[in-house]
Amino acid sequence: MTVIVIGGTPGTGKTEVARVLGSLLSVEVFSLGQLADDAGCVKAIDKARNTGVVDEDCLVDAIISLLEKKKGRLIIEGHYIDLIPSKEVEHAFILRTHPQVLRERLKQRGYSEAKVAENVEAEVIGVCQMDALDAFDEEIVSEIDTTSLSPRETANKIVEILNSGGDQNRIDWMEMLEQEGRLDDFLRE
Ligand SMILES: Nc1ncnc2c1ncn2[C@@H]1O[C@H](COP(=O)(O)OP(=O)(O)OP(=O)(O)O)[C@@H](O)[C@H]1O
Ligand SMILES: [Mg+2]
Repeated sequence: MTVIVIGGTPGTGKTEVARVLGSLLSVEVFSLGQLADDAGCVKAIDKARNTGVVDEDCLVDAIISLLEKKKGRLIIEGHYIDLIPSKEVEHAFILRTHPQVLRERLKQRGYSEAKVAENVEAEVIGVCQMDALDAFDEEIVSEIDTTSLSPRETANKIVEILNSGGDQNRIDWMEMLEQEGRLDDFLRE
């Protein structure tokens, strides 16, 4: 069993890219959000955030039983990727998007101001990057700046990295924005 993991802040394109990658590689795609729903792991609604709260133990069990059922390669995308057992993971890709572009994209989705700000800040700090580096070996974690790439271009890049054995380029929006003197525009009070 080898899992290709696609993670990233909301709006960075995980679902789109995973779909394209799945068809390029002829590999089945699973969304952790869908898996959590199907397995009844969404235990509560966080009203302030307008989002479900996932029971992590329940989702780990659901992931493990999925991996037992499926043979060969598969793609798993979504949040909570650090719950996937690392020994099953072939490679993890973290999609990154320039905070300014991400902010516009999330606004367009109709997210509240607070939710936009929370997610933009998470992207600036690199929360998904850090979670992935904690959960998986550094050598199998690659980040892709998709700011000026289409989902297809991003999927092509993923295939390239898989074929070449890896890419450990790290993206640091915090440092970049700091140098530009506009870090505060992207962090909450
Ligand atoms: N590389 C890209 N360039 C421009 N727009 C993109 C890109 N990738 C995705 N999008 C668009 O951005 C939006 C968010 O994409 P998508 O739903 O795949 O994100 P996601 O990471 O799965 O978000 P969530 O975590 O909320 O599920 C969609 O409207 C999608 O068409
Ligand atoms: Mg998605």
